[in-house]
Amino acid sequence: MNKTIMVTGGAGFIGANFVLEWLRLDLGRVINLDKLTYAGNLENLVEIQNNTAHIFVHGDIGDSALVAKLLAEHQPYAIVNFAAESHVDRSIHGPEDFIQTNVVGTFHLLEAVRTYWANLNEEHRQNFRFLHISTDEVYGSLAKDDVAFTETHTYAPNSPYSASKAASDHLVRAYHHTYGLPTLTTNCSNNYGPHHFPEKLIPLVIHNALTGKPLPIYGTGQQIRDWLYVEDHCSAIRRVLEAGKVGEVYNVGGWNEKPNIEVVKTLCRILDAKKPREDGQSYMNQITFVEDRLGHDQRYAIDATKIANALGWKPKETFDSGIEKTVNWYLEHQDWVNNVTSGEYRHWVEKHYAERGEELA
Ligand code: NAD
Ligand code: TYD
Repeated sequence: MNKTIMVTGGAGFIGANFVLEWLRLDLGRVINLDKLTYAGNLENLVEIQNNTAHIFVHGDIGDSALVAKLLAEHQPYAIVNFAAESHVDRSIHGPEDFIQTNVVGTFHLLEAVRTYWANLNEEHRQNFRFLHISTDEVYGSLAKDDVAFTETHTYAPNSPYSASKAASDHLVRAYHHTYGLPTLTTNCSNNYGPHHFPEKLIPLVIHNALTGKPLPIYGTGQQIRDWLYVEDHCSAIRRVLEAGKVGEVYNVGGWNEKPNIEVVKTLCRILDAKKPREDGQSYMNQITFVEDRLGHDQRYAIDATKIANALGWKPKETFDSGIEKTVNWYLEHQDWVNNVTSGEYRHWVEKHYAERGEELA
């Protein structure tokens, strides 16, 4: 059986974790297509830089000619589409890249994949899968007592980011409904764990705490997110790829709803124990309430019953175990953090890949 998959956005946070685990589990060859935006970091993939089962290609999902060439050459049996602009605050300041990659890029990717798929032989057409990675944010914001999002919850995206992801979900749905493309979609809650870019709440707070900077809490800090350890997200994706029903949507979540202020205080407590401040004070003293995010969604919560019942998936980590692992990873990988925050990671291509003859145009 052909065991090659194509992953897009595999140099980013979740994509890199997914690719690393896929290869650790020896599940087959990975063609990793990534544009290396500010969020793409080849240093995330250093562990597999000499692994011949990993083929990194520097490129854009919106480049249909490139995607068509890669599909023809490598004949993957599945595509896992992580590539996206992913940061809500950036989408508020500059939505255009979000429309370009998340909407237009996904459209071009789907077009190239549709042509490839249509020309496969019957057996390969049947086995092919296009798995689109999406977010719970497409469902909008919940009030405190609302029930958690199920797969049939109305789409009501509130930020340019979530609107662009919602648009991409609709395109994926339409390509299944109209052309029969064997798609799967997962809508996941907030991830955390290793390789998380320190512009997002958890890695930002760890970094700012350790460097003596303020820990910025938007508004009151009472907004609620549902947190899932990234490796649990990756195991859910593998399970959906393996056994998900074509055309279906699966919500993925950790049953871990927490107000932001509680997450930040937990991080402070763990850091106080593992890496106490030199002055003996608590990191909590660095907490600073700042102006709220525009249009800030109050609460996200995922009902992950469907994936549990239909596919037998559930998360391994609790929030306590996952957050401890995460803090440990950041404490042990301060070089990674320093390279990201100094911008040094942008030179990783030249430093680590230039001599390998990879397609890093
Ligand atoms: P990320 O921002 O860390 O990584 C995105 C990756 O995509 C980067 O490597 C970037 O270089 C690449 N990329 C961007 N535009 C591209 C393009 N046009 N062509 C090819 N590559 C491109 O994001 P992440 O947090 O790893 O999220 C991955 C996916 O999961 C996204 O689709 C996101 O919407 C979704 N998601 C994220 C979360 C979360 O909490 N982080 C939760 C649910 C769903
Ligand atoms: P973030 O990690 O950006 O993820 P998302 O917006 O996709 O949920 O933010 C998580 C929550 O933390 C969100 O409610 C915004 C809040 N937040 C802060 O309070 N301060 C910060 O500095 C950041 C980055 C986020």
